[in-house]
Amino acid sequence: QTFRLEDYRPSDYLIPETKLDFTLSEHATRVVAELTVSRREGVSPTAPLVLDGDGLVLKRLEIDGKPVSADSYHATPDSLTLRAIPAADRFVLTIETELAPASNAALMGLYRSNGVYCTQCEAEGFRRITYFLDRPDVLSVYTVRIEADQAEAPLLLSNGNPVDSGSLEKGRHFAVWHDPFPKPSYLFALVAGDLGCVKDSYTTTSGRSVELGIYIEHGKENQAGYAMDALRRSMRWDEEVFGREYDLDVFNLVAVSDFNMGAMENKGLNIFNDKYVLAAEETATDADFANIEAIVAHEYFHNWTGNRITCRDWFQLCLKEGLTVFRDHEFSADQRSRAVKRIAEVRTLRAHQFPEDQGPLAHPVRPRRYREINNFYTATVYEKGSEVVRMIRTILGAELFRKGMDLYFERHDGDAATIEDFLTVFEDVSGRDLSQFALWYHQAGTPNLSVSASHNPSTAELTVEIEQSVPPTPSESRKRLMHIPLAFGLVGHDGKDIAYASVEGATVENGVLHVRKRSHTVRFTGVEERPVLSLNRGFSAPVSLSVEHKPEDLFFLASHDSDEFSRWQAFNTLLTNAVIAAYRNTLGDKPLHFEEGLLELAGRIAQDERLEHAFRALALTLPAESDVARDISHNIDPDAVHAGRDALALRIAEANSGVFSKLYDDLRMSDAFTPDAASAGRRALRNTLLDFLSLLPGGAVKALDHFQAATNMTDRAAALAVLVHRHGGSEQAREALAAFEARHGADPLVMDKWFMIQATAPGTGTLDAVRGLMKHAAFSIGNPNRVRSLIGSFASANQTGFHRADGTGYAFFVETVLEVEKRNPQVAARLATAMRSWRSLELTRQELARQALLAIQSQDGLSADLRDIIERTLA
Ligand code: ARG
Ligand code: ZN
Repeated sequence: QTFRLEDYRPSDYLIPETKLDFTLSEHATRVVAELTVSRREGVSPTAPLVLDGDGLVLKRLEIDGKPVSADSYHATPDSLTLRAIPAADRFVLTIETELAPASNAALMGLYRSNGVYCTQCEAEGFRRITYFLDRPDVLSVYTVRIEADQAEAPLLLSNGNPVDSGSLEKGRHFAVWHDPFPKPSYLFALVAGDLGCVKDSYTTTSGRSVELGIYIEHGKENQAGYAMDALRRSMRWDEEVFGREYDLDVFNLVAVSDFNMGAMENKGLNIFNDKYVLAAEETATDADFANIEAIVAHEYFHNWTGNRITCRDWFQLCLKEGLTVFRDHEFSADQRSRAVKRIAEVRTLRAHQFPEDQGPLAHPVRPRRYREINNFYTATVYEKGSEVVRMIRTILGAELFRKGMDLYFERHDGDAATIEDFLTVFEDVSGRDLSQFALWYHQAGTPNLSVSASHNPSTAELTVEIEQSVPPTPSESRKRLMHIPLAFGLVGHDGKDIAYASVEGATVENGVLHVRKRSHTVRFTGVEERPVLSLNRGFSAPVSLSVEHKPEDLFFLASHDSDEFSRWQAFNTLLTNAVIAAYRNTLGDKPLHFEEGLLELAGRIAQDERLEHAFRALALTLPAESDVARDISHNIDPDAVHAGRDALALRIAEANSGVFSKLYDDLRMSDAFTPDAASAGRRALRNTLLDFLSLLPGGAVKALDHFQAATNMTDRAAALAVLVHRHGGSEQAREALAAFEARHGADPLVMDKWFMIQATAPGTGTLDAVRGLMKHAAFSIGNPNRVRSLIGSFASANQTGFHRADGTGYAFFVETVLEVEKRNPQVAARLATAMRSWRSLELTRQELARQALLAIQSQDGLSADLRDIIERTLA
């Protein structure tokens, strides 16, 4: 079934109040739902009430306390239709269902994770608990009673505030929770189990005192401190930057070990994948700390952008996700280094969203149709969605943007809103027409800007030709012209921006050039010297650029641009171009040659004390094989990409061995570990240098020394990756793998790193290694984190290992995706997206990939989730 945006229609009935009574047990949980149903004004009393279900067993059905006769309703596992409905426009519907949480392997609805009852309802999991109008525009006030065995589940949590609790006979007990804020069913949550707890409290600016609780596995309480601190900082930041305060008496956050996604913003009861809560220097890397901070903030920020203002339908998913990602990006930028954060964001966008936008799974930020909504929790909706919000701020300026956000909260609090509502507030506060800009929500594909410049010294004129094009994407062959805010600078010989006298041919405001037409000829006057054009500063628009830059211009920008992002970009482009040149020479059996200037520049950036350590680390990190492949774009031979990239790494290491060694030694830290951005930056730079140094004689021994000297997970994991990726099969790699396993074998989250490092080792041998690791005691095919770290990383981040020319990687893919799908269709569908760029491979691999996709497609009884991905990928 295909759902279409234009088919939206409000429901005939509403459910203003929902009372739920859970009697928990592993195999037979009883759920009694008492729904106050009201007919929408103007709807005929004969209109049937059709409730959503998913695999439900109906045990009892009553209207206003009386059993409903068998001929006036129809119940299937997937829906409940009531035909004879009381004429009164309000009545109470009682529905009893029975669930088996222990056998719920899909991890949607009510399930058990490590002995803990928990729920995941977004997007359509609530219908696996009871029959309901399971759609985001039906808002209800929930009161939830939970009854369970006191010993098995001393902790009973739901949304809102606690209102009652007590003991019952036979060792049972209960708790009642009430959430005064009307909410859609996808925000419902319940947790019951035996968990450790860390408590704190927070007072909002207006004086509300909020009890904070983080619940985690017993014995891990000492790993919750960082998440708690991140939560408190998020609460303060949202008050200061967006004027948003928390609105309940309690805020609870629970970490569970089996979770399909990162985390979930259920009102007052956020549920997290434990990977994004638990943090200690011994077990978490600096990247883990940063992710925890960002995701804790993200879920907290949803309280306003998502919960207080929710979505009318799932087509509007980006309304809450794009906006909330933008908010968490800004938070992290304020907590850490803004420039470094921006570079990391853009790298992520390019690595995940660009290939999506440029392949068969491309869709607009606000899609117009879907078959399975779970498959639209994508980089496009989240990350590109965030970029679109960022562009609104760029166009309006920070002040008007904040005004617009204030109006959004004021106007739509309590609403299930749309993207149109969101855009309108910004039009209203600014008086601007954003209709062309709105295409960013409606049109898929990464726009390209082609730019060339010429300078005429005799007239002191700079002419810049800009041409935009948006490539066709599935079911959108013709594209309309977009409004692209392009931040730029004209950089003079001293690195300072040149002022110009006048500009014509495009609107320019505050250093931003507004591209709106197919082509612009932009003339700057009063430009005496030939400037170097710095374009898309700060990555002001999520576009690709084709610029005729002379190499010396890129060298110049890499050293002198005042915009740090553009400086990083220029150097990154030089590195990418060098790898692509080496790739072509590898394919043509020609000798590889790298420019001395590039090798030297790497050394200079490494030592440049004016640059943050983290910036230098990012600059020196070579573009990933997948980044290079994306730029090559077609007929890709992954082995040649690997060879080209490795050759460049080796030449940079050889050319800078002295400088890198000295810096590596200087960066050693002896003081106690702190996870702050500055310390993390030092570690990042030192570990990047280790990667280069490991390529030189004695490199494996050096990496093993680093591994053994490590006093934190960042350094230990980095050294292990260097050993396994650069010196796979060596004695040192084996020793480090064994030591890591001996030390962390009992901690599944840490073993995920061990799995992932091995799964991403380049070369054809990794496939057998992955097969072997699937039999390891720490692996479990039912746990999404294990599957993602071993199989997901192999399929999506191992170009040479997965895309083997003999197709055995694809055969493994078919077998494994189908195996995962039996339990968890959502995780299987996500895994399957690893094939989304199959058409850019060289022909032999392309054909093998196609056969693999067809083999999955031909299976009987495929889940909607997996079928949707496979069919779109093949289309
Ligand atoms: N709303 C959650 C977040 O972004 C994601 C939950 C998605 N879950 C799912 N099963 N599709 O924070
Ligand atoms: Zn979110």
